[in-house]
Amino acid sequence: MSQFPKDFLWGAATAAYQVEGAHDADGKGLSVWDVFSHLPGTTHEGTNGDVAADHYHRFKEDVALMAELGMTSYRFSISWPRVLPNGTGEVNEAGIKFYSDLIDELLRHNIRPMITLYHWDLPQALQDKFGGWAGREIVDAFDEYARLCYQRFGDRVDLWSTFNETIVFIGMGYFTGQHPPKLKDPKLGIQACHHVFLSNARAVKSFREMGIKGQIGFVNVLQPNDPISQEPEDIRAWEIAEGIYTHWLYDPVLKGEYPRDMLEMAQAAFGVPEFHPGDAELLKENIVDFIGLNYYKREMVARNDDVQGFDLNTSGQKGSGGGMGFKGLFKIVKNPNGVYTDWDWEIYPEGLTDAIGRIRHRYGEVPIYITENGLGAKDPIVDGAVLDQPRIDYLSEHIRAVGRAIEQGADVRGYYPWSFIDLLSWLNGYQKQYGFVYIDRENNLARKKKLSFEWYQKVIRSNGDEL
Ligand code: BG6
Repeated sequence: MSQFPKDFLWGAATAAYQVEGAHDADGKGLSVWDVFSHLPGTTHEGTNGDVAADHYHRFKEDVALMAELGMTSYRFSISWPRVLPNGTGEVNEAGIKFYSDLIDELLRHNIRPMITLYHWDLPQALQDKFGGWAGREIVDAFDEYARLCYQRFGDRVDLWSTFNETIVFIGMGYFTGQHPPKLKDPKLGIQACHHVFLSNARAVKSFREMGIKGQIGFVNVLQPNDPISQEPEDIRAWEIAEGIYTHWLYDPVLKGEYPRDMLEMAQAAFGVPEFHPGDAELLKENIVDFIGLNYYKREMVARNDDVQGFDLNTSGQKGSGGGMGFKGLFKIVKNPNGVYTDWDWEIYPEGLTDAIGRIRHRYGEVPIYITENGLGAKDPIVDGAVLDQPRIDYLSEHIRAVGRAIEQGADVRGYYPWSFIDLLSWLNGYQKQYGFVYIDRENNLARKKKLSFEWYQKVIRSNGDEL
């Protein structure tokens, strides 16, 4: 008997910049990623999302494949500059029509849409105007954008999340300089992070004020860190990592306040975040309905004897976010006994059960969706067939891990592997594949089902029984 509830959502996920292409079609404005990826030396061999999977033009074909796969939900993001080319003001009706048609097509196939409002493609116009997330004006701009989306799509969509992985777009954008806007400025980064939390709270408030029927959440990547040893210095380093990676990112949206120890540390070191009157109340009054949890890997944490004070160098691990400026207090090290992917991400399914357990321990019984989980690999093609058995192994172990969490009593409501189709990996180009569907980039972006497609079909049909 399956541990998964009868109405459990079996989905898959993508994000606009990584899949849509059509980067300047039909009145779309440029995003920070459209600009950044065209700067020399920013991405793997200069790859960008100009074309990506061309989902913008082929969404009907893609939704037909989703239906064939048996997906009951699809997580995708809206490109802010596609619907508001300047970030605020004039609406691009062609952009609205694209999402509206996509939603209708999904519903026609009984696939429940889950929308992410922000998956990193900020309108460049807002970056230029007031420094993007670093400017407080972003809070009003994001609210305007969110309201527009609720108004146009809220009649048909009942699962929403505001942000995807703050630690990555703020950490890599403001601390390590690997994402736009390419800064290494922790003070600005912490303030920008505060604006993200305020924007989330305002958008949640508007969602409720507008009476949208449904739920709204916040998505974080959660890599349960473990200390490399039980020595007190490593344990202390791990506590700080946990404070930054988990408490800093979930407390403001689930408890409506910052973790006191981390807040004191940030204010002592950088004098931020700066609060305006009303900020604390806004956070407190608008906690989210659910959390989305993205999980790929575990990271091991050790004391950092190499640096004194703060070190902004990244460990090269995406999601480390440069430790939000406090990296000097710990470092990420490799697990000598770990199993790693070709991109050096530790494969550790138990970590997913563990991540869910840590959330329940700190925040109680909050509904959880696993909004991303997957294996990035160069899939072998043998006689024309895409044989991605390692992906099947990875996903089946992680689904089992979700099942164990449910057995322990967790309220997990859905599972969205990353990703439905092969798409752009932000800094790694098209060589790091995640999808159930392969895209032949040499042959007019033809879609081809991988081995994992058939496997996931069975998983869904059996409600998680046949792994
Ligand atoms: C998550 C993001 O961080 O990880 C996705 O939400 C991303 O957008 C995924 O693609 C995998 O990361 P990467 O770097 O391997 O593409």
